[in-house]
Amino acid sequence: MTTETTPSPLKNDRFLRALLREEVDRTPMWMMRQAGRYLPEYRKTREQAGSFMDLCRNTELACEVTMQPLRRYPVDAAILFSDILTIPDAMGLGLRFVAGEGPVFDNPVRDKAAIEKLGVPDPEDELKYVMDAVRAIRKELDGSIPLIGFAGSPWTLATYMVEGGPSKDFARLKAMMYSDPATLHTLLSTVAKSVTSYLRAQIAAGAQAVQIFDSWGGALSDENYREFSLNYMQQIVSELPREADGRRVPVILFTKGGGQWLEDMADTGADALGIDWTTNLGNARRLVGDKVALQGNMDPCVLYAGEAAIRSEVRKVIDSFASGVHLSIEPGKTGHIFNLGHGIHPGIKPEAVEVMFDEVAKYG
Ligand code: CP3
Repeated sequence: MTTETTPSPLKNDRFLRALLREEVDRTPMWMMRQAGRYLPEYRKTREQAGSFMDLCRNTELACEVTMQPLRRYPVDAAILFSDILTIPDAMGLGLRFVAGEGPVFDNPVRDKAAIEKLGVPDPEDELKYVMDAVRAIRKELDGSIPLIGFAGSPWTLATYMVEGGPSKDFARLKAMMYSDPATLHTLLSTVAKSVTSYLRAQIAAGAQAVQIFDSWGGALSDENYREFSLNYMQQIVSELPREADGRRVPVILFTKGGGQWLEDMADTGADALGIDWTTNLGNARRLVGDKVALQGNMDPCVLYAGEAAIRSEVRKVIDSFASGVHLSIEPGKTGHIFNLGHGIHPGIKPEAVEVMFDEVAKYG
């Protein structure tokens, strides 16, 4: 008798295996924002769709842009094409993307009354377009590589919902945190319930791993990070189904700027942590031991440099991870997934990305 489940057929499962620290033949790789504006074919499809949200809502085109980077690069995972702001949009905040400004909410929530009115969206109703995209992409992938689903962390979503768009200092949200923490907890709790039901639906629709993007958790003090961000991510992790199709569905937590909380993040029950470039991967590995796999962490700006620098930086990332691997860990079972430390920038050349993935495939 074994407690291991029988994996469903997947031609390349090294990403899922590495997330569980199982043996792999080489370091698996993918890239945050791998479908996006740095690709000319993406810009063309986006134009065809009209707006960014029209692209997310169009099943066929959302599937098409998910596949675009896979035609160029030998990545080991696909990521659902959508956005973290679909949830607040479905809550009625009215999302628009304004050129040069980024996401804007027409109806931000800034007081107790507005926050208490928020409901949890039904993922197979208001957010059905996302689940339809997951189902279409799984069909198109046809068992070649796994599909990652995702959501924003409650704290990160709250920054946009309260500020009404991108913010440098999160002044409104932090004012609420310090003057009326109970109202902020009401907001975070509703958003956490929404994220849980959204990710559960993505897993039911076919997502084979999920990542929670906590892009702005790093703006919090140590104490506030635990209370207002980690706490809610932990709640979400504990309520996700961890198996689908006879296979474990790994959960990845990514707090940008979260280097000082890695041990606490590893204790949430997540399978893997995303690491940005400010943290040394070997040190991270020593801190979390064998609890979780690690994903990351090359500075996206390396991709503005020439081929020799890109190859050298890729090797440094892989070597830095190896430096933290304890001798007792069997070779091949190290649990590293190569990625950037944050999303790729629109101004980077697709050829630079090709060099990066080529080096990972050779050296990893
Ligand atoms: O990684 C992928 O390829 C999957 C798709 C994906 C997008 N956004 C597509 C997108 C994912 C995983 C996200 C996550 C996301 N969205 C985050 C967390 C990750 C991070 O970068 O920290 C955040 C904070 C958002 C919110 C958001 N969406 C912003 C701030 C912006 C505008 C920023 C910009 O680059 O202009 C978006 C728009 C967005 N989401 C684009 C894409 C490809 C660009 C839209 C366009 O085509 O103009």
